[in-house]
Amino acid sequence: MKILVCDKTEKEAIERMRGAGLQVDVRDDITPEDLPGVLPAYDGMVVRSRTKVRQPLIDVCPNLKVIVRGGVGLDTIDADYARSKGITVMNTPMASSASVAELAIGYMFALARSTYQATSSMKAEKWEKKSFEGDEIGGKTLGLVGIGNIGKEVARRANGLGMTVVAYDPYVKQADGVKLVTLDELLASSDYISLHLPKTKESAGMIGKDQFEKMKKGVRIVNCARGGIIDEGALYDALVSGKVAGAALDVYAEEPPTDWKLLKLPNVIGSPHVGAATHEAQGRVGAEVADKLIDFAKKMQPV
Ligand SMILES: NC(=O)c1ccc[n+]([C@@H]2O[C@H](COP(=O)([O-])OP(=O)(O)OC[C@H]3O[C@@H](n4cnc5c(N)ncnc54)[C@H](O)[C@@H]3O)[C@@H](O)[C@H]2O)c1
Repeated sequence: MKILVCDKTEKEAIERMRGAGLQVDVRDDITPEDLPGVLPAYDGMVVRSRTKVRQPLIDVCPNLKVIVRGGVGLDTIDADYARSKGITVMNTPMASSASVAELAIGYMFALARSTYQATSSMKAEKWEKKSFEGDEIGGKTLGLVGIGNIGKEVARRANGLGMTVVAYDPYVKQADGVKLVTLDELLASSDYISLHLPKTKESAGMIGKDQFEKMKKGVRIVNCARGGIIDEGALYDALVSGKVAGAALDVYAEEPPTDWKLLKLPNVIGSPHVGAATHEAQGRVGAEVADKLIDFAKKMQPV
């Protein structure tokens, strides 16, 4: 089987696939313009977030049999269309859960103790001891919107830190250490709200002006899920009015943002969509991509 690796993938994973007899070519800087001319010669492709696999690309690749995405969501792939053409589409749903959960927890501490703002002040050679009285996160209520793989990892860690954890997820019936509540109950009771759900037609913009109004004054918000689930304009207003004390964002409606005014607010901290960017997660993603392709190839050519 011939595989085209279109995005950055661990070397060990590529070597393991080659060792298992797959012909693997790495073109991890291939452009969307070049891809339709190159991909038709391959049976399979490996993508991360950068390479999008949309219907027109699928249409010019009648021999494509498998797409493996190293990552959680399949929003960068027209997966239903690909499957309708007989292509197997796979991802690595749990490989980065712990990394994203740790970032979300780290952000809660950073918001509670203003560690970014204190560091900036120290770098400016200031000793503003009185400006940085913070809060403990133990004893506070954390509201998780979405309690799947990452939400559960966050809940486990938050329980260990002495937080009360509530969650809103209409598709989940039970989660250990978590009280399932309605979205309105979550908004009214949470000191911290962290999002861990996919962006869908239903969830796009679901945290907007009305939802901010229902939150506690001084709530802190973490979004390591997807940009656009929170209405960024409404979040900006809530941060300026003080309704929201602070926000930590790893994801944005537009990436990279073209309008940086939200990020420039003093009570906002952020990162460039790096929730899964740890050595451990990348290693697990690579290993799972290799396992899945080797397994797929074996099923295609039984010995
Ligand atoms: N920042 C990053 O780098 C990064 C990395 C990995 C994943 N993510 C994001 O994190 C999200 C969660 O990942 P996961 O592995 O936990 O996924 P998952 O599929 O295991 O869990 C998602 C949960 O969200 C729930 N959900 C769906 N629609 C909902 C809605 N409208 N309201 C409330 N809950 C809803 C689902 O029922 C499910 O339990 C992903 O969809 C992805 O967007 C971000």
